[in-house]
Amino acid sequence: FERKQLAGQRVLITAGPTYEPIDTVRGITNISSGKMGYALARACRDAGAEVTLVSGPTGMPAPLGLARIDVQSAREMYNAVLAHAGQCDVFIGVAAVADYRVKNRAEHKIKKGDGAPALELEENPDILATIAALPAAPFCVGFAAESQNLIAFADAKRRRKKLPLLVANLAQHAMGADSNEVTLLDDAGEHPLPSMDKADVARAIVQHLASLLAQTKNQ
Ligand code: C5P
Repeated sequence: FERKQLAGQRVLITAGPTYEPIDTVRGITNISSGKMGYALARACRDAGAEVTLVSGPTGMPAPLGLARIDVQSAREMYNAVLAHAGQCDVFIGVAAVADYRVKNRAEHKIKKGDGAPALELEENPDILATIAALPAAPFCVGFAAESQNLIAFADAKRRRKKLPLLVANLAQHAMGADSNEVTLLDDAGEHPLPSMDKADVARAIVQHLASLLAQTKNQ
């Protein structure tokens, strides 16, 4: 009998895009499909973890054997994550959280004819940075989707958000696709992985995560 890699670990994961309403029927979002976050949630579940998935609007069915919390906006995602952060050992931020929300959101559907409305934007909270800065922070894993200077930008992000592990990928390859080519960045350096199906990428991330968790425990 082999003990599963993440047995006994409580893992909280964000996935998908967020949706920032402009009025009752319109909003700002992005092209994240949620496929990578869902694949990772399944891989963690299959590795024996107790998984809570906080999901933006993806249209994907909830995977079996885990708890899914549906949210729309970045602030809803932030609140859901904060409410569960105290009961998790690992937090993985895969969601493509909108950086800005609409400040002057309309209460009713905006009518055409009065000219193009001016949208006023304000910054959303950084969920991952907030969780990583908690006094009793869980082990935090981030994702970075960059369109250029991948490793340099991603490593700067890892240091700024104080993350033991960050998964770097090129936005133009990753977002919406079924496969992904990622580089894992940790204190030991860069670990490039070949292009694979997202389910295989997720299993490789779980394996790396499990070995880092085992090192942390043995320190
Ligand atoms: O800074 P950037 O958005 O590129 O960082 C990406 C990482 O930070 C991802 O892991 C993403 O889920 C997380 N993030 C977050 N809250 C935000 C923005 C990004 O949790 N508001």
